[in-house]
Amino acid sequence: MIDIVQDLAALRARVTGWKRDGLRVGLVPTMGNLHPGHYALVDALRPHVDRIVASVFVNPTQFGPHEDFDRYPRTPEADARGLDAAGCDLLWMPSVDTMYPLGVERTVTVRVPGITTILDGAHRPGHFDGVATVVARLFNQVQPEVAAFGRKDYQQVAVIAHMVAELAFPVRLLPVAISREADGLARSSRNQYLDADARARAPALYRALTSLRDALGAGQSAAAAETGAADALRAAGFEVDYIEVRAPDLAPYAGGDGVALVAARLGRTRLIDNLEFSFGAGDGRG
Ligand code: PAF
Repeated sequence: MIDIVQDLAALRARVTGWKRDGLRVGLVPTMGNLHPGHYALVDALRPHVDRIVASVFVNPTQFGPHEDFDRYPRTPEADARGLDAAGCDLLWMPSVDTMYPLGVERTVTVRVPGITTILDGAHRPGHFDGVATVVARLFNQVQPEVAAFGRKDYQQVAVIAHMVAELAFPVRLLPVAISREADGLARSSRNQYLDADARARAPALYRALTSLRDALGAGQSAAAAETGAADALRAAGFEVDYIEVRAPDLAPYAGGDGVALVAARLGRTRLIDNLEFSFGAGDGRG
């Protein structure tokens, strides 16, 4: 069975030993409740490294006061079994006290300005500070050469890439393609909050992204395509936080390659998704 480590000194000893033997270490950071999308991160990382550490830590600092921290699904035994089967070498599962020795109120915080105040950052104030803070800690704890992140959290990957470049972390990021159910719904631990009716409606999220892309491709302005996609989502029963098209670096869209991003709620469940696309320059402008 996979080694489960909860003590920082023990983690350091294992990783230092591997590095002394010239082995490359990879990290898959997670909040647990693992699904095939997480195991796809492990698979994508494997060719790049010799040892894989997965972390499971439900990070309190990235949840807002009225968000789902308390009810976020925690399944450590199943996660350990799944990571073992996936060929992970070590499961890093720190407690909140180990991650935040001074307590979450007094912790040193990493704040990435700019891209953290748009899209999800505008709807979840402080969320990306919590993400950047915990990922910086995980990088310092595990000291991976490569770390895998899912592209479903497109803005998260952009925030972490910015932090890594700015703070010169010696780690290479490996963004991994979105894992989807057969009906297009992006895999997420939060999908299990959906009751049967909401689950049946949920694929409208991905359909809204594809129709937004197609409308841009057909020459509609970004504003009109966004409005059409938001209307379609509301008709499917969603409350829409945003559905926007942006340049790949999340700057305002000005035609050509881009990414459509959405966050919307079905009842109490907030889902996000995105679709990267490529057009010839000049298409979809507006
Ligand atoms: O994507 C996630 O699961 C989390 O935001 C992460 C990167 C593990 C940080 O808590």
